[in-house]
Amino acid sequence: MPHFIEGRAIAKKVYSELRGEIAELTKRGRTPGLSVVLVGDNPASRAYVRSKDKMCRDLGLHSVKLELPADTTQNELLARVHDLNGDPAIHGILVQSPPPKQINEAAIVRAIDPAKDVDGFHPANVAKLALGDKSGFVPCTPLGCQRLLIESGIEIAGAHVVVLGRSMIVGKPLALLLMRKGRGGDATVTVAHSRSQRLAEITRAADILIAAIGQPEFVRAEHVREGAVVIDVGINRVDDPSVERGYRLVGDVAFAEVSEKAAAITPVPGGVGPMTIAMLMANTVRACRQSSQ
Ligand code: GUN
Repeated sequence: MPHFIEGRAIAKKVYSELRGEIAELTKRGRTPGLSVVLVGDNPASRAYVRSKDKMCRDLGLHSVKLELPADTTQNELLARVHDLNGDPAIHGILVQSPPPKQINEAAIVRAIDPAKDVDGFHPANVAKLALGDKSGFVPCTPLGCQRLLIESGIEIAGAHVVVLGRSMIVGKPLALLLMRKGRGGDATVTVAHSRSQRLAEITRAADILIAAIGQPEFVRAEHVREGAVVIDVGINRVDDPSVERGYRLVGDVAFAEVSEKAAAITPVPGGVGPMTIAMLMANTVRACRQSSQ
């Protein structure tokens, strides 16, 4: 049996550290504030936004959830972002991705004040990550994966990490983060993706395999070396008429068969997911601490 990496338990540890900091900031009249903006009614996005808002409230953060209609225009959304940039009670801004198709997402991200960009998607923060400048914000899911590895005592320095997926939200920043110099970095990183040839050869060379390709149960036993560590970033809804809500959540990894080979593996749900939210809260607290407002 592999070691199951319990994201929920590790996220709890992060929250217990954050609570003290939040209490201290609040005592000084500076409660950290996060605004999560959802445009439209994508069911998965709604669920994420709801859990982010709930977690803020549990922790005593100031939370402003903005739910805008699916036909919101670019200019309307830009105006909301400008308001939030100027709001001293808000230290973090997150516009849930993906937005509806009339929205130019890159332009929205560029409009967010980089000091409030707790998603780490603004070009200024992406550049800092690439440059090894630790003063910027790093995207939450990559940070969560890194923290899971550190807290589980898995050596990252010198390990061969294969990142499967090259998205701006996970794959690309995760590769940069794990190859950065210093604690939680120094890995040998290979990035593979849906167009990679001889994929199983590449993934079987991994000491740590991180699946972020967005396809249900894509990673099979044949992709994994005996004794590897497997981190599953995927959260896919697959139809399942046998359950009341009509779907179940599966990761990018075929959990049962890969569990038989892995030394350690994250479950879905309950692995990376809770850590992503925990890192969003941590980034928001940091944004508040660093702000002069
Ligand atoms: N959609 C899926 N993951 C994320 C995330 O980390 N941030 C935002 N803004 N949207 C997402």
